[in-house]
Amino acid sequence: MSRILVVGASGTVGSELSRLLAAQGETVLKATHRTPAAADQVHLDLVSHRGLPEALAGVDRAFLLAPPGHVDQEALLAPLIDAARVHGLQKLVLMSAMGANADDNAPLRRAERRLEASGLPYNIVRPNWFMQNFNTFWLHGIQTAGQIFLPVGAAKGSFIDARDIAAVAARLLTSDDLADRDFDLTGPQALDHHEVAAILSQASGRPIGFTDIAPEAMLQGLMGAGLPQDYAGFLVQILGAFKAGFAERTTDAVRHITGQPPRTLAQYAQDYRAIWAPA
Ligand SMILES: NC(=O)c1ccc[n+]([C@@H]2O[C@H](COP(=O)([O-])OP(=O)(O)OC[C@H]3O[C@@H](n4cnc5c(N)ncnc54)[C@H](OP(=O)(O)O)[C@@H]3O)[C@@H](O)[C@H]2O)c1
Repeated sequence: MSRILVVGASGTVGSELSRLLAAQGETVLKATHRTPAAADQVHLDLVSHRGLPEALAGVDRAFLLAPPGHVDQEALLAPLIDAARVHGLQKLVLMSAMGANADDNAPLRRAERRLEASGLPYNIVRPNWFMQNFNTFWLHGIQTAGQIFLPVGAAKGSFIDARDIAAVAARLLTSDDLADRDFDLTGPQALDHHEVAAILSQASGRPIGFTDIAPEAMLQGLMGAGLPQDYAGFLVQILGAFKAGFAERTTDAVRHITGQPPRTLAQYAQDYRAIWAPA
């Protein structure tokens, strides 16, 4: 059994990952940039880099992600990758994003390359857009207007359930046979947002539609919700990649790594239906 540091342990993927690892008998150390409130938490701030030595003390393996809201992911991740190398971790699993390796000079790709060159046993997983965005980031439009508002036209995406990403990460963290490989993670099928809206409607009983909006309207909406301008611009840029068809591809990585097929959007919608149900 290992002692595993989970960065983003309170988040969508990390909370499920922590649960899966603990259920397998692993010792989980949950990183938080807030004040730790439980014995299994440790303070680690990837912006200020405070808490790095303490977070890695006694740790064998680690799961790493770039907290959202920042555009220079290399600046966030590089100190932890370097410290993990000095520390001699047995495995580091980095959650990146599908498409991150399209440009070798993009900050997230530079962080990936730093890990690849570290000499540490590693995996990089690059998930496609999460299904869970429909119960988090895009929920406001559904609740207030019954609409998913996005600048993506009729393009399709092979959305992935975050629970499947966590299952993949749990397997990669606790085994060494797939070391030093990267995987693009997708759901089982590509759907456009009219199809997504219809599936959410059917599961929840609330009529939900899709409205294609201009990138500029998306930018204003994200900034109005409090996102920094540079990060809002980054999100609009990657939504442009979605619109251009780059999120459509499917892979068999989830089944290959976990032995289970990835969840469908209909399964996800069934499990989360109470969130969209009419009041
Ligand atoms: N959403 C998508 O469709 C999608 C698709 C592909 C890839 N991704 C990638 O997924 C990642 C986000 O994963 P997620 O959705 O599971 O996370 P999330 O739910 O957004 O949670 C963010 C996590 O980051 C932690 N955090 C925030 N600021 C921090 C800091 N300064 N230092 C250390 N930790 C900090 C938070 O914990 P505390 O508040 O406790 O510190 C929280 O656990 C991003 O890297 C994103 O690029 C997302």
